[in-house]
Amino acid sequence: MLTQSDGYVSGQALCDRLGVSRTAVWKVINQLKEEGYEIESVTGKGYRITGRPDRITAEEITSRLDTDWAARPVRYFDSVDSTNNEAKRLAEQGAPEGTLVVAEEQTQGKGRRGRAWMTPTGTAIAMSLVLRPGTRLHPDRAPMLTLVMGMTVAAACREVTSAAIGIKWPNDVVSQGRKICGILTEMSCEVDFINYVVIGIGINTGIETFPPELQETAVSLHTLMGRKPDRARLIAACMKAFERYYGLFMKTQDFTLLMEEYNALLVGKGGRVRVLSPGNEFEGISEGINPMGELRVRREDGTEETVFAGEVSVRGIYGYV
Ligand code: BTN
Repeated sequence: MLTQSDGYVSGQALCDRLGVSRTAVWKVINQLKEEGYEIESVTGKGYRITGRPDRITAEEITSRLDTDWAARPVRYFDSVDSTNNEAKRLAEQGAPEGTLVVAEEQTQGKGRRGRAWMTPTGTAIAMSLVLRPGTRLHPDRAPMLTLVMGMTVAAACREVTSAAIGIKWPNDVVSQGRKICGILTEMSCEVDFINYVVIGIGINTGIETFPPELQETAVSLHTLMGRKPDRARLIAACMKAFERYYGLFMKTQDFTLLMEEYNALLVGKGGRVRVLSPGNEFEGISEGINPMGELRVRREDGTEETVFAGEVSVRGIYGYV
């Protein structure tokens, strides 16, 4: 109620709405102050919120959410091994589609290909979304969900910063040639049935100085914006955008309805790229993705190749592959 009001909310209004005593309200206000909220109380007027801590608890995220199912519910942890692992554990226990696991700290954050992923407390977002497409999506197509999430995070970042944000195929969200976000999708399935999919998202929000080995390849929203973003708002924006893109994706179970928007965000489109697939290295012009999410690359002899896996280096644009 306090965050939804611009001015003061009287103690009586809080009591009436919540059905509790004035003392109970006073206790909770004090508890919120201890948690870092700045709340002014003026006799005769009531309470007014003047400052909120940059927290990503279920309450902070839910109060900013404008979704039908995504991030409903939010499961927040101060510390967890990996939000992907936790989301998988919850999914095994029956967590519904839309469950979002968020953590302030990950002790064993995972990147792609067995790499580690660093999540420093207070300066990053680590979250994992549970999906249950069931028979509506063939397991072969699940990898495309990573691209759908890449578009989602790019769109949400564009809402909070005016810096140029793009996608490096297939799903790195980048700015100034450096990575802002990484996505790791995991799935439990039978040959023709998906039990659940977990999409894990790591966003560099507040890190100002990266360790030397990442300085050339990573960037944070703080550096791009000159201040830290409101993390809970960014998470809510991601969930809203994902609901829309996932809905469009599921209509055709491919990128038919999303291709144009994805290609508009694709960095290096129309430029020279070097494809580094195992056993198939070549150069060509990037022509964007096709409905299956594969990268179309035109070779010098005019023939077109589609790249469905492996790494693509966009020459002259990225310091990393
Ligand atoms: C990459 O290598 O680019 C993917 C990084 C994915 C990191 C996120 S952080 C939240 C979720 N939990 C994990 O352990 N990994 C993903």
